[in-house]
This record gives sequence, C-alpha cells and structure tokens, in this order.
Amino acid sequence: MKSFKKNITKSFDRGSNNYDLNAKIQKKICQQLISFFKNLDNSDLQIVNALEIGCGSGFMTKELIKLKKIEKIHLLDISSEMIKKVSSQNLHKNASFEIADFDNFSRYNEYDFIYSNMAMHWSENIKNLILKILLNLSKNSFFIFSIPHSLRISFKKKNKAENFCSSLVNQFPKYNDIKQIICSENYNLFSKQISLNEIYNRPIDFFLNLKKIGANVSLIKKKSNIFSLRHITVKTLINYDVGFFFIKKI
Ligand SMILES: C[S@@+](CC[C@H](N)C(=O)[O-])C[C@H]1O[C@@H](n2cnc3c(N)ncnc32)[C@H](O)[C@@H]1O
Repeated sequence: MKSFKKNITKSFDRGSNNYDLNAKIQKKICQQLISFFKNLDNSDLQIVNALEIGCGSGFMTKELIKLKKIEKIHLLDISSEMIKKVSSQNLHKNASFEIADFDNFSRYNEYDFIYSNMAMHWSENIKNLILKILLNLSKNSFFIFSIPHSLRISFKKKNKAENFCSSLVNQFPKYNDIKQIICSENYNLFSKQISLNEIYNRPIDFFLNLKKIGANVSLIKKKSNIFSLRHITVKTLINYDVGFFFIKKI
C-alpha cells in the first residue's frame, strides 16, 4: 500500500471510536445530500443491490434506509476499524462489509445504486475513480455522492496565525472540474453546490476535532505543528463549499 493510503487508513482507524460523536459537519452534509436525493427521486426508484464507498461508521446508509427499501447493501471502507464499527451495528438484514480501497475496487458493475458521503476526495485520483464508476454503471443505475470543494478558515479578530492555519488545509477537487468529468450524453446529471459554516472558540479546536475523527491526514508535503496554535483564543469560522452529485445512467 502507498504511504499516503497507509496514513489515511491509520488515521481513520484511530478516529473510528470518536467518529460518530464528533463528525457533526459530515452528518449535516449527509442529511442535506439525502434531501437533495429525495427531491430528485420522484420515480419510486427500487434499489436491489446498493454499494456505499468510504462508509465510515455507516451514517449515510442509516439515513438512506429510512427513506428507501433496499434489498441488499454492501459497505466498503479502507479502514478495518471503521468496518468493525459499522458491521457490529445490525444496520440491515442483508448487509455485507468489505475492507477495500475504492480506487482499486473492481466490482462497480454489480450495483444499481452507488453512493458516498464526504469520502471520495481521499481518492488517489478522483477523476479516474469517477470515470471507473461511470463506465461500470449499468443502464438505469444511480450514483450519488458529496465531496468538499473548499475549506476556508477565518478569524473573528485579526491575527497573523490565520494564514498559517489556511496553509495547513488540504486542497479539494473543484466543483466545475467534477461536473466536467461527468458531462456526457450517456448520463443524466443533477448537481448543486452548498456552503456551510462551523464556529470554534479557538483555531486549534478545529484541528483537534479533525484529529478526533481521523480526517487530519495532510496531503500537503509539509511538516506542521498545530500545537503552536494552542495559546490563540480567537473565534474561528470554518466555511465549507460542498458539491452534491446525482447521476443516472441512461
Ligand atoms: C470523512 S469519512 C466519511 C464517512 C461516512 N461516509 C460519513 O458520511 O460519515 C471518510 C471515510 O472514507 C474512508 N476512505 C478514505 N479513503 C478511502 C479509500 N481509498 N477507499 C475506501 N475508503 C476510504 C475513510 O476510511 C473514512 O471512513
């Protein structure tokens, strides 16, 4: 396994116990993704064989099965500890689980409904991942996902550490670039971009929360020490731009 994948795996393994309690923004985004899907799904869509990629603790599956009857669900995650957590929950009578890397997974053609919340931006090459899923999607199948496009950090009061904080944040795939990848006459695409905010009392609290849930892997090749922020007590606004994508193969 490549070293950055090892880091992602280790980090989400470590975060698996605290994920559900602390992944507040991921849950909010998931609920909005489900509403986005609900508004578009006026076809009484029947789901036979569903796949969640980057399932984490299974939050999206839990929300989805409140809305839709699904015959079989396969949940996949690179972190064995996340899979341990999700598989111990009795989510669905026909659920199966797999520790696997979605970049290397090769059975996307077996599912009529593929979905993912806030996970695919950890891909080694998101363009290849999306194209692989689209090419394997069979007629009338669906692919639904959310990913972050940007994360901005700003302070309520001027402080020179603001630039340092911004430099610690990973870059994300742009909304229009993702739309461009999907644009083809073989698919119906509905998408939208939303903006959400979170406020922390101190900048370090934001970074510590990322660490708690395992999402603190830096994809920027730069050593940084967030503990230099520990004495800064300034209200910190985190702004996320997130994209929702609903794709139907026609
Ligand atoms: C931020 S969590 C989101 C979890 C869940 N989807 C949710 O909505 O709460 C990202 C998840 O993606 C998983 N992940 C990251 N890279 C992956 C990969 N290459 N293959 C499979 N899962 C991956 C992580 O282990 C983690 O559980």
